[in-house]
This record gives sequence, structure tokens and C-alpha cells, in this order.
Amino acid sequence: MSPPSPSPAASPGRVLVAGATGYIGQHVVRELVRRGHPVVAIARPRAGVKGAMDEAATREALAGAEVRFGDVTDPISVRDALVRGERFDAVVSCLASRTGGVQDAWRIEHRANLELLEATRAAGLRQFVLLSAICVQRPKLAFQHAKLAFEQALVDSGVTWSIVRPTAFFKSLSGQVEAVKAGKRFVMFGDGELTACKPISEADLARFIAECLSDPKRQGAILPIGGPGEPITPRTQGELLFELLGRPPRFRRVPVGLMDAIIAVLGAGAHLVPSLADKAEFARIGRYYATESMLVWDEAAGRYDASATPAYGQDTLRDHYARILREGLAGQELGDHAMF
Ligand SMILES: NC(=O)c1ccc[n+]([C@@H]2O[C@H](COP(=O)([O-])OP(=O)(O)OC[C@H]3O[C@@H](n4cnc5c(N)ncnc54)[C@H](OP(=O)(O)O)[C@@H]3O)[C@@H](O)[C@H]2O)c1
Repeated sequence: MSPPSPSPAASPGRVLVAGATGYIGQHVVRELVRRGHPVVAIARPRAGVKGAMDEAATREALAGAEVRFGDVTDPISVRDALVRGERFDAVVSCLASRTGGVQDAWRIEHRANLELLEATRAAGLRQFVLLSAICVQRPKLAFQHAKLAFEQALVDSGVTWSIVRPTAFFKSLSGQVEAVKAGKRFVMFGDGELTACKPISEADLARFIAECLSDPKRQGAILPIGGPGEPITPRTQGELLFELLGRPPRFRRVPVGLMDAIIAVLGAGAHLVPSLADKAEFARIGRYYATESMLVWDEAAGRYDASATPAYGQDTLRDHYARILREGLAGQELGDHAMF
């Protein structure tokens, strides 16, 4: 008797990845290709941090995937150039506004994801995995509201969904590495203990996301996720860096009130000069991360709870810092986020 043919669920499904040229998206493509999924990665003709990648560089970065170029903000391009009426087993969206500006956030995090969901669902999509962020649990910023609006649309869509809400990425904790290495002090708000996070590496997060495709426990679920080990505060980050450099820690404390003053000035200015609206939003984003932890929020207790924040993966911030102190920041660039 011949062995039974594998069920469709057993063979890796065909996946469309959006936001494929981003920090996490590139690793997600690599991970899915490694697992044998046929992958279609969608990108714009100039991609990457500050549009540094042309089409050839993007194809090289996403080797193993079929790369399609188009415009996720244009419904016709989504339909005709990117989805092309084809059926995908799953979409993984790592799309995100590169600036966090108010209009860009709604255009990318909400509208573009919606267009993609609609176009793929019309062609028989089964499953959608969304890369979101843990900070949406206490929304105060435009991009958080845009993310939440799409999360709700996805939950209501009828396709199998997973919403992945990671804590901080390694790149977001690497902005001061070069300056500290060059002899500067580590800058922190207050005493450096106002916030904490459980940072997760891009490779570990990509694995976690890929597993959502096959693990039923990660479907129909909102998934806060952090990396391994104890929660890390800004002060711990500074101490780690100085320890690895073999120098005594030196800190510069910045009062949070300074951010409030900047927000007040830019917010008032934005009423007169609309172009200041995004600058005021960037300052609000900076203040948010200076004062809110990237951990699960316990509503009843009114505090963040590190022990309730699931941990996944092997990569530690210590090893990451050691590597970038040795080899440089390649792949950890913040782009437009560098301003905060
Ligand atoms: N940073 C953190 O610590 C952190 C923590 C938790 C969650 N998150 C969330 O994780 C998500 C992904 O983060 P990431 O760092 O991987 O983002 P990223 O590197 O900024 O990548 C964003 C992706 O979206 C694409 N995109 C942005 N605007 C576009 C546009 N107008 N047209 C077409 N594509 C566009 C980018 O394409 P191009 O390459 O063409 O620009 C890129 O592929 C975000 O939702 C973020 O909020 C971040």
C-alpha cells in the first residue's frame, strides 16, 4: 500500500510577506524560506532605511523569495502588481510607518494593511499574521491607534489571525552604542529605572512569527512576546555597555519634564504651522518610550508586569551589544527613528 499523501497543512504554505524590506520583515522572509515556504515578498522600488536599496539590492536581501514591486498605498497596485488575484495560504505583515508621523501611520499601519487583507481575502486567503507592538495596550499615539484599528479589522475579517505584539527590538536599544564606545556618557531619563523591557532579537522574533503559521495555540490570539532573561531598564543597558567596554559607568540624566516642555511648544506651534504636527508627535513618541515599559500591562493592578510578559528565544542583549561593539551597527540602523 502506498503511504498516504501529505495533507495540505503538512506542506509549507505559500506566504505573502509585506514590509519584507524592514528590520523584522527581512528576517521573517529568511526564516520562511529556510522552512521551505514558497514566499512572495512585496516591496517598493526604493526600499530599506532611507530608501538605500534599489530593486537589485532588495532581490539580493530577500534571496529565495519571489519579489514583487509595487505600492501598498495604492489599491490598484496592491491588486494588480502585488497580489495579482493569486491565492495565498497566509499573509505575514511587518508593514510599519518608518516615521511614526500621524498621516503616514494611518496610511501604512491601517489603510495599506486593510487593502492587503481585502485583496488577498478576495482570492481565498486562509490566515493573516500581523506584526504589531506591545505598546498598543496603552494607546496614546497616532500609530498605536492606527495599529489597533487594523487589529480590530483583522479580528473581524473571518480569516485565521495571529497578532504578535513584541516588546523592544535590539535595534531600539542600540542607538547609544557608538557614542558610548567613543567615550560619551549614557543618556537616560530620570534615574534610568522609569521603564523596563524584555528585548527580543530579530532572528528570535522571526522564528516566533513563522511558528504562528503552524501552531494552533498562536492562532485567534493576541501574543505579547519578549526575549529571554530578566527585564532590562535603561540603566541596565548603560551598565552592560560600560562593563563590556571595561570602563566605569558614566550616565547623563535627563528630566522627563524637558520632553513635556518640547511637546507643549511643538503642540502649540502645530496649531499655527501644520507641518509641526508630526514633530510634536515625534516628541510625544519619545516621551512615551521614556516613561512606559514594554511589558504586559496589568490593568487590575495598574502596573506593568514583567512576569506576565512571555519570554521566547535565545539571543541576549549582552551578546548583541558585544557583537555590535566588535563589528559595528550594520543591520541595526534606526533610520528616521534616530531622532528619538
Ligand atoms: N522598534 C521596536 O522596538 C518595536 C518593538 C515592538 C514592535 N515594533 C513594531 O514592529 C513593526 C516593524 O518594525 P520594523 O523595525 O521591522 O520596521 P521597519 O524596519 O521600519 O520596516 C517597515 C517596513 O514597512 C515598509 N513601509 C513603510 N512605509 C511604506 C510605504 N509607504 N510603502 C511601502 N512600504 C512601506 C518598509 O518598506 P521600505 O523598506 O520600502 O521603507 C519596511 O519594509 C512596527 O509595527 C513596530 O511598531 C517595534
